Amino acid sequence: MATTPSPRTPTHRRSDPVPLAVWPAAQTTAQYQRAGRYHPGCAAHPGKMLPDLASRIVAEYSRPGQLVVDPLAGTGTTLVEAALLGRRGIGVELEARWADLARINADHVLGPKDRHLVEVRQGDATKLAELLGADAGRVDLVCTSPPYACDVGNLNVANWGAGRDLCSAAERNYSGDKANLGHARGAAYEQAMANIYAACFAVLRPGGLLAVVTKNTRRKGRTLDLAGLTVALAEAAGFTYLQHVIALHAAIRDGDLVARPSFWQRTQAHKARTRGEPAHLVVHEDVEVFSAGPAQLAPTTQETAHAH
Ligand SMILES: C[S@@+](CC[C@H](N)C(=O)[O-])C[C@H]1O[C@@H](n2cnc3c(N)ncnc32)[C@H](O)[C@@H]1O
Repeated sequence: MATTPSPRTPTHRRSDPVPLAVWPAAQTTAQYQRAGRYHPGCAAHPGKMLPDLASRIVAEYSRPGQLVVDPLAGTGTTLVEAALLGRRGIGVELEARWADLARINADHVLGPKDRHLVEVRQGDATKLAELLGADAGRVDLVCTSPPYACDVGNLNVANWGAGRDLCSAAERNYSGDKANLGHARGAAYEQAMANIYAACFAVLRPGGLLAVVTKNTRRKGRTLDLAGLTVALAEAAGFTYLQHVIALHAAIRDGDLVARPSFWQRTQAHKARTRGEPAHLVVHEDVEVFSAGPAQLAPTTQETAHAH
């Protein structure tokens, strides 16, 4: 298939500054946001979006009745939250295991009236146009979160201190299948994501929006600037960068931020500090919003409500 040039080529230009916003996204824990709504099997997926964050993105950047697509759908959080807000949601997921779980979540969370709003198709995100069929070119919002080019997996705590692998190879990075983007690093990751953003551009209607959630991670004391890379890749695919949102993964309590790290993040930060690296807990994700066409944000639900 045709590939998009890497953003590291000299043709890439630096993005102009865009408006910045800060959203609280973790006033309650991720577990609490899912409890009693999503299927308990979600615990097996190692990289889910916060439901409150997915809901806010959909509310801000689309309108009821519109079509929201997630090409890296995982457990289907974006699709379920879109349907709860009266949007249609179509998800694409490479792994049968997670595509099934996304359908189960739709069954679980949505009532019979709304279940038809969500469809999940198993396949490769680079083939998005093919997988969407007649809906290609009509998408109003792509809301997604890619793998973060770092290892993820659920820890088997029974192996803690026993000298055994804390996360088996089959469970790491979403799947043992090396074709899964969860395993891609460096130039291979950049090229794969460039192809996916090009595929997103092709399926959006003119002026449709792309909202990407990423997190900057740290490796050997250095930050991997995934937020910056995402802007470069999306702009190289033809998008216009519109807005940067800091989504807090910390609760705001009495004017202070209360971090909500996983056990793994806390352990890693502690180890880095022991090595003398000035590491802090990461308490936010970046939401980057782009337009397929002229720079214009659609009126938000709130603005639309005020206008009436
Ligand atoms: C960060 S997770 C998305 C999580 C999702 N937002 C949720 O809340 O569950 C990324 C997903 O992309 C999937 N994936 C990886 N490579 C893919 C590809 N080429 N096409 C489609 N999905 C892919 C992974 O299996 C994983 O479930």
